[in-house]
Amino acid sequence: MTSKRAIITGVGHYLPDYVLTNKELESYVETNDEWIRTRTGISERRILKDPDKATSYMGEKAAIEALEDAGVAAADIDTIIVATVTPDYMFPATAALVQKKIGADNAYAFDLSAACSGFLYALSTGGMMIESGRAKKVLVIGTDKMSSIIDFTDRTTCILFGDAAGAVVLEAGEEGGIIDFVHHTEGDEQCMLYQPAGGSMNPASEETIKNKGHFIRQDGKSVFKKATEGMADVSLEIMERNNLTGEDVAWLVPHQANLRIIDATARRMGLDKEKVMINIGKYGNTTAATIPLCLYDWKDQLKKGDNIILSAFGGGLTWGAIYLKWSR
Ligand code: COA
Repeated sequence: MTSKRAIITGVGHYLPDYVLTNKELESYVETNDEWIRTRTGISERRILKDPDKATSYMGEKAAIEALEDAGVAAADIDTIIVATVTPDYMFPATAALVQKKIGADNAYAFDLSAACSGFLYALSTGGMMIESGRAKKVLVIGTDKMSSIIDFTDRTTCILFGDAAGAVVLEAGEEGGIIDFVHHTEGDEQCMLYQPAGGSMNPASEETIKNKGHFIRQDGKSVFKKATEGMADVSLEIMERNNLTGEDVAWLVPHQANLRIIDATARRMGLDKEKVMINIGKYGNTTAATIPLCLYDWKDQLKKGDNIILSAFGGGLTWGAIYLKWSR
């Protein structure tokens, strides 16, 4: 069996129509547009308002667009991996719901939970399936309805997040594609970033609702420090082990959590600003969707042979980077 490379052959996205501006947030909490923009880089974010639509709906839309872009039929997909922290239900997996919605009848499907690093963990997992020859076509989706776990009276979190989905099709190719990845995990025993209730530790009860346990809770300062170190360290780690300098890298695709974290990462990598994909201003932090959303927004500028570093940090704590060569 000759070893194959996993290449991205299609990219798709979904953004809800509703635009939640900083101005509107000023009417919910004590904040202001200037503070949010200077501390985070965010001006607006999208919110999925329809009460009967959830994470799988956005994943479905992004998946259909990615399949069309790749020219691949849903029936030809072997595996679907959905990265999310806001599944439609605790179970079944959101990936199973997407499988049904898009008619990928020959695929098996599962969710992967690694918060904001979820898409990178999922992409490398799908890549290994293709490299091993076990799968020929894999759909990797990052989709999160963050508004479903946000307390819109908490100014330290509600300004940061938005809803969206992004997806890619991975297929076997001869060259380029995913060259290398590095992932790290450090169990977050201090719970600096988590959703306290709804799992088996604190199942839903009157108490968990009263205590707002079903919303995101985070120690912003500690997460900021860890994320700034982690994203920059892992990006340098992957560059060093592949003998890449800032000159060699065509694009950095960073997780979009905070513009200051992105800037610090790019600085340490020695990259010019023009090489960094940044769309946090329009969408905020869409958790598992940020990286495929960037790939979608920049896809017409990517050239065959471009060296691309994808880099993320998230709850878990999780962080990682992927080095890929654009191959289409
Ligand atoms: N509007 C106005 N003021 C706010 C505010 C808001 N939305 N949120 C906090 N403040 C206030 C604080 O109360 C504090 O006031 P004080 O000095 O009187 O006590 C002041 O602004 C500074 O707060 P601080 O928490 O030090 O701000 P910061 O510069 O650390 O920025 C975050 C806060 C949340 C933007 C920043 O810590 C961050 O981005 N953390 C990482 C979050 C993240 O990325 N999470 C996901 C990881 S994938």
